[in-house]
Amino acid sequence: MSYALEVKQLTKTYRNGKQALQGVDLSVPEGSFFALLGPNGAGKSSLINILADTVKPTSGHVTFLGHDLFRERRWCKQHLGVVPQEIAFDPFFNPRDILKIMSGMFGFKPDLKWIDELLERLELSEHAHKNARQLSGGMRRRLLVAQALVHKPKVVILDEPTAGVDVELRKRLWDFMRELNTNGTTILLTTHYLEEAEELCDHVAIIDQGKRLTSQSMKGLLDSVGSSALVLQYAKPMSQQALLTLAQFSPRIDGDKILLCLKKDHSGKNNFNAVYQTAIQVLGEAKSVRIQNEDLEDVFLRITNEKKT
Ligand SMILES: Nc1ncnc2c1ncn2[C@@H]1O[C@H](COP(=O)(O)OP(=O)(O)OP(=O)(O)O)[C@@H](O)[C@H]1O
Ligand SMILES: [Mg+2]
Repeated sequence: MSYALEVKQLTKTYRNGKQALQGVDLSVPEGSFFALLGPNGAGKSSLINILADTVKPTSGHVTFLGHDLFRERRWCKQHLGVVPQEIAFDPFFNPRDILKIMSGMFGFKPDLKWIDELLERLELSEHAHKNARQLSGGMRRRLLVAQALVHKPKVVILDEPTAGVDVELRKRLWDFMRELNTNGTTILLTTHYLEEAEELCDHVAIIDQGKRLTSQSMKGLLDSVGSSALVLQYAKPMSQQALLTLAQFSPRIDGDKILLCLKKDHSGKNNFNAVYQTAIQVLGEAKSVRIQNEDLEDVFLRITNEKKT
């Protein structure tokens, strides 16, 4: 498999001593639609800003389409588009001018037809002549996306591209990204909308506290961690000791319920009986029992919580 990005042992320690990245490895297959997920403060933006050359890494290597990202910056910048999390524009230019200027900064003559298409697709055409400071937050975010795409990069990295974008526009923005991906662009993005990540992305990595917890195909993650959970409801709060005893089933507390991971064997049967019997031995009879299918959000919470117990 060829990779658009290969990140090896990347670390970042900020000047205040904060270790935002503690040796992260990440391989993004060429042509993939890759979700980089993690709770607030996990290190996602630190990683993306290093790729975008706005933050200096402390150590590590990154290969971008076979080129050394830190040594061949110019070439890499021409083939990479980044949408940062923070919004920053020169407020005195309008969107169309900003896109023309950006083309020049990437070393290309502005492609006016493509700029018009981008403005249209990102629903900015009617705002194209407005001063950037007159744009709303959602419009600015879309302009940031247009800016990252103006030089038709092979790989696009988006740090929460849909934050602050309303529901309908968000759907259309995702459709546009899906179209770019279908046409061969590799897309790496961060988002806190896990339902959308599950629907769109074919690969996923989860990081927390500067460390990679998992990285694999979306289907692999949803299948491997357990596509369903046994949900037991209790009137009494559960003790920490009980949780430790059930650790093999990756317990997760949700209010008065405990969720235990059901795993499938190779014949496709899950271990319901074993989990249920062990649980009632440890916790006693439950008020209610049911099986719940797990989605990406459940898996995400399980993996990030497992680390804390
Ligand atoms: N310039 C900085 N100086 C010091 N610490 C920083 C700096 N930038 C980020 N951090 C810290 O590094 C850690 C990772 O932050 P980062 O912004 O990479 O997280 P994130 O995963 O993007 O979070 P979010 O989902 O909230 O955007 C956090 O603890 C943050 O406080
Ligand atoms: Mg961030």
